[in-house]
Amino acid sequence: MTSLNDIRSTFLGYFEKQGHRVVPSSPLVPRNDPTLMFANSGMVQFKNLFTGVETRDYKRATTAQKCVRAGGKHNDLDNVGYTARHHTFFEMMGNFSFGDYFKTEAIPFAWNLVTRELGIDPKRLLVTVYHTDDEAARIWKSVGVPDDRIIRIATNDNFWMMGPTGPCGPCTEIFFDHGDRYWGGPPGSPEEDGDRFVEIWNLVFMQNEQFEDGSMRALDMQSIDTGMGIERVAALLQGTNDNYGTDLIRALIEASADATSSDPDGPGKTHHRVIADHLRSTSFLIADGVMPSNDGRGYVLRRIMRRAMRHAHMLGSKDPVMHRLVPALVRQMGAAYPELHRAQALIEETLKLEETRFKTTLDRGLKLLDDELVRLPDGAALPGETAFKLYDTYGFPLDLTQDVLRERQRTVETAGFDSAMAEQKAKARAAWSGSGESADLAIWYELADQHGATDFLGYDTETAEGQMLALIKDGASVDALEAGESGWIVMNQTPFYGESGGQVGDTGWLRRLDDEHDLAEVTDTQKMGGGKVFAHAVCVKRGRFARGEAVAQEVDHSRRGKIRANHSATHLLHEALRRALGNHVAQRGSLNAPDRLRFDFSHAKALTPAEIAQVEAEVNDYIRQNSPVDTRIMTPDDARSIGAQALFGEKYGDEVRVVSMGTLSGSGKGADGKTYSLELCGGTHVRQTGDIGTFALTSESASSAGVRRIEALTGQAAMDELRGRDHALSRIEGLLKANGAEAVSRVAALLDERRKLDNEVAQLRRDLAMSGGPGEGPQTREINGVSFVAQVLTGVQGKDLPPLVDDHKARLGSGAVLLIADTGGKVAVAAGVTADMTDRVSAVDIVKAAVAALGGKGGGGRPDMAQGGAKDADRADDAIEAAEAVLGG
Ligand code: SER
Repeated sequence: MTSLNDIRSTFLGYFEKQGHRVVPSSPLVPRNDPTLMFANSGMVQFKNLFTGVETRDYKRATTAQKCVRAGGKHNDLDNVGYTARHHTFFEMMGNFSFGDYFKTEAIPFAWNLVTRELGIDPKRLLVTVYHTDDEAARIWKSVGVPDDRIIRIATNDNFWMMGPTGPCGPCTEIFFDHGDRYWGGPPGSPEEDGDRFVEIWNLVFMQNEQFEDGSMRALDMQSIDTGMGIERVAALLQGTNDNYGTDLIRALIEASADATSSDPDGPGKTHHRVIADHLRSTSFLIADGVMPSNDGRGYVLRRIMRRAMRHAHMLGSKDPVMHRLVPALVRQMGAAYPELHRAQALIEETLKLEETRFKTTLDRGLKLLDDELVRLPDGAALPGETAFKLYDTYGFPLDLTQDVLRERQRTVETAGFDSAMAEQKAKARAAWSGSGESADLAIWYELADQHGATDFLGYDTETAEGQMLALIKDGASVDALEAGESGWIVMNQTPFYGESGGQVGDTGWLRRLDDEHDLAEVTDTQKMGGGKVFAHAVCVKRGRFARGEAVAQEVDHSRRGKIRANHSATHLLHEALRRALGNHVAQRGSLNAPDRLRFDFSHAKALTPAEIAQVEAEVNDYIRQNSPVDTRIMTPDDARSIGAQALFGEKYGDEVRVVSMGTLSGSGKGADGKTYSLELCGGTHVRQTGDIGTFALTSESASSAGVRRIEALTGQAAMDELRGRDHALSRIEGLLKANGAEAVSRVAALLDERRKLDNEVAQLRRDLAMSGGPGEGPQTREINGVSFVAQVLTGVQGKDLPPLVDDHKARLGSGAVLLIADTGGKVAVAAGVTADMTDRVSAVDIVKAAVAALGGKGGGGRPDMAQGGAKDADRADDAIEAAEAVLGG
């Protein structure tokens, strides 16, 4: 049997041999088409190559492209499970020529692959061509397809258009005849919708471009875009007409049957088919960064998930089922799509969380629905309000309710549902406008209500395309921003990170897709309207940016790279601090900017140099470990139970993103036994810790009581800092003519010597003063029976005076001393009285009198020793006289 995986490799290998570059599938969330919800065919990622807007280093490519058709224009969700060929997820294989080969090569390539490589019997094939495309018909004939198997089709079925605008052209399709066991007729016949003739490959001859006004131009170059549904080809090669009977999907159906202990082909058959299909779309969407939510793509994901979960529930499963099937999917498709391996934990946790939560309301909702149906007349549609109640209270997406009703041949009154929904939104709006918030804020909430949350693509990409939904200037919505104007732009999706969790908002550029010359600079990105709306602060440099237009978005890559490095380093720092200082260390704030990081944490005292060195070294150890940085989603409780660090006092929603990095070597005390850092975080991070480069701690200080602050640098900035320090050290070594450790001991010795010399100098000054100079020599006189020495000194400091006063007192034996030191601009005054005299005169009084005479104020101390200061040394004689007056009194 030719497995689906074999077919994929045969297809890609064949075209590789024909000089095609094997290009990986693009993500399901289109980065280059803001109007498209999900990638729905192989050409999406090459759109701009056909029109010549973009060129790459190859002209031939081949892909197996992941596609989702659910939500948006192509929505197959309702039929999945009930038919043979509807899927929410499928793979489209294709070969592409960008102005290289055209029909003459494309048709023989396809015919060879189908009849020779895949070995399909040519007698069971027929082809269609656009009715005017004689050339294609002729080429088919030349490869051996008889005339009666070349069918001309005049409808748009054989003129392929990507959408209302864009590259397009006539196409030719290959059909397989499953035989008369099945009802149906060839393409173009009234029975063409039957199951007998199945289209397996569409070859589009891209030669035109369609514009909004309906006009069409011939493209400068002629290109090829083909799409082959791998599941359909697998079905025919495996002798079945049912895509769900093919090996890969069958394996998933069996996994579903195993997990629910039921028969894969029994009464629960449809449930298993739904589960198998939805397992693929939900897992691939999660792997490509979509998370369940109540808006946009996230809501489409949630609808698919819940639809599958209802079917699992119908199989009687008490516990969540979907996450248990992920290993089977990874086994089947992980080799071709490595992103499934990378995201396996994330997929499992997201599915488990959603199913656990949904199960709590699913039963009650189904019961409400049953009760309601019993009351309704036979066959009557379910009132819209009931469907809305199921949506609002029990989390039933409308299509889930419709899916339940389909089994009972009933429908929903969708108009009633829509009006109940509109009423709820109006009430919510009224609640905001009455809440006293400023007009600016009301605008953001209105935008959130009108357009839903902005899809953030920036975990996976820094470039994308977005459609401008609103432009805001001075708090009001405007139609456009002109060159020179500043304002805010809101788009449906964005790779720009909105400031949050300490990480600053992204900056970068927007270019109008219609004219890339038109440029707006994004100077900041903020989250508004309760965090749902990403508002880009812009300054329009050239052109005019108007609502509804599409723009190419480009985040400043170098700046974002530095922010990532700083943010990831902050996580490592946090853990290193906990390990060095203890578990009381909790984050109290952080800043992750491009040029630095700052981390505030609870800790009572300053870090010792040894602790700082240990922390810095440990962070660098984990950088060098270069382990991958992993992201997972779980409930806050689960996250805490595995030891994730949460920000103190922060409010978390039902789901949290857990970022982990580093692997503990040896027998570490990591909470889950192996991961070094586990944190709840919504920020953007490096892919591998090694991307941080280097970590240099630049300061440690007190931030507030009980909170310390560390500032640090990473990458090039850290290197520059270290090089700067090294340069300073080299200069010191040069001056000392000593290197490294020797320089350190030289500095220590120099400081020691300097201390000794300082002491010596002070002593010499005192000796000099005592021996009478410089300055006037001491004069001793008797006043009122007290020996009094007064001296005016220069070249000594205020701090030298008390020991000199003591010297004088010792020499006098009994008496009083007044010393006045002119210290250059200031005057220091000290007085002393020997103990036997303090009952007659106080040193404090002497100092105060002298200070006053010198034009100063105050002075104080003890009766035996007092000090003061003044300004005017010229009046020293007056001061001595004033002191004598104190003694005389
Ligand atoms: N774009 C064409 C399709 O989707 C061929 O790949 O069918």
